[in-house]
Formats: sequence, C-alpha cells, structure tokens
Amino acid sequence: MNLINIAIDGPAAAGKSTIARRVAESHSMIYVDTGAMYRAITYKYLQEDKNDDFQALIEDVSLKLVYDEDKGQRVLLNGEDITDYLRSNEVTQNVSYVASKEPVRTFAVKVQQQLAAEKGIVMDGRDIGTVVLPDAELKIYMIASVEERAERRQKENEENGIPSSLNELKKEIEARDHYDMNREISPLQKADDAITVNTTGKSIEQVTDIISDLIDKVEA
Ligand code: C5P
Repeated sequence: MNLINIAIDGPAAAGKSTIARRVAESHSMIYVDTGAMYRAITYKYLQEDKNDDFQALIEDVSLKLVYDEDKGQRVLLNGEDITDYLRSNEVTQNVSYVASKEPVRTFAVKVQQQLAAEKGIVMDGRDIGTVVLPDAELKIYMIASVEERAERRQKENEENGIPSSLNELKKEIEARDHYDMNREISPLQKADDAITVNTTGKSIEQVTDIISDLIDKVEA
C-alpha cells in the first residue's frame, strides 16, 4: 500500500470520481467519494421533509462506506444501502444547500479525516486539499469546460436511466459551482499547492497517465 494521500478537488462533473477511481485501482489505494457523503445526508434531509435543524439531522445520521468488488463504493445510511438514490435529480438539486451547513460539514470532514488517517487514500471533493487533507502529498485541481462537463454528465445519466437535457444540465452544473464557490464555509477553491489538470478534450486514459506521472514524481 502506498503511504501517500491524494486530494482531488474541482467543479462538478470535471471527471474527478472517474479518474480518482482509476488511479486508486492502479496504485492499490482506496478511493473515497466525499460527494457521496453529502448526497447521503441530503437524502436524509429530503426524507425529513427538508427540516432545517441540521444539528438534529446529523445526530440521527450514521454513515458507513463499504467496498463492493463489482459495484465499488457503497454508502450505508443508518445501515441501509442508499447508493442507488444518490444521483437522483432531487438529491442533486438540494445537495449544495445541505453541504453549505456547518453541522453537516463538521460531521463529514471528521469522518473523512478518520478514513485518511492511515494514508493510501485518493479522496475527491471540493475542500479536500484546502481543509480535509491540507497535508496531502499530492493535490490536484481538476477542471474542464462546462460544455464538456454537461455532455459527460448527460452520458452518465443516460447509462443510469436518469432523464436529463443538456441545456438543463449545463445550468445545473453552473449553479452548483457558483453556490459551492461562494459559500461561507470551505468554499471550492484551488489549494495554493495544488496542480491544475484541465481534462477538456482528454480521454480517461490520458488524464490517468498525467496523474500517475505526478504520483511517480511525489514518490521519487
Ligand atoms: O462530487 P459531487 O458532485 O457528488 O458533490 C455533490 C455536492 O456535494 C457538491 O456540489 C458540493 O455541494 C458538495 N460537496 C462538498 N464538499 C465535498 C464534496 C462535495 O461540499 N468535499
């Protein structure tokens, strides 16, 4: 097992999770999708009829990440596997709001830091390089044009049977980025020591290779 942590941050649908998963697999590291945690808490928030008492909400949440050989990371909310609901439009439309709340972030960051304590983790999100793992050995800030990000998400939705229109997706991605970049607590921003990787026009293999080269340099 590699004794480094890798932080991958960036705007919505920039390719973070696809690449993080690949890099983790090829380097025998563990991939942690932190967006899934905020989505799971949002799922609970929707179940509770959007009650804005976030402290109470968190006190009633137990989150577990488990790894299934075929399906990858699964999220258990109070013991129930809710992973299949996390990409629904309703969760996506509410997640940035829920993720902006202090009790939610304090809870999620603590879980994430515990997961990364032993190292060997590739973690993607919005505040990993800046807040969760400020000492990560490698920090990537992944970006792509909004057109390409919307197209990729459209394809992903099609594969998952989630209805969406390209124009709506573009608007949703831009709105979510704006909210995530302008919130008060831990806004999305590039860590000073992060390396920007622009994935526009690049294949998954090309981006994975770029990051593998960066890992080699860190380990050299
Ligand atoms: O990565 P994903 O698109 O699943 O993230 C969903 C949302 O969760 C983001 O738009 C953001 O509001 C929130 N998030 C966050 N901090 C993270 C990861 C995700 O605030 N580390």
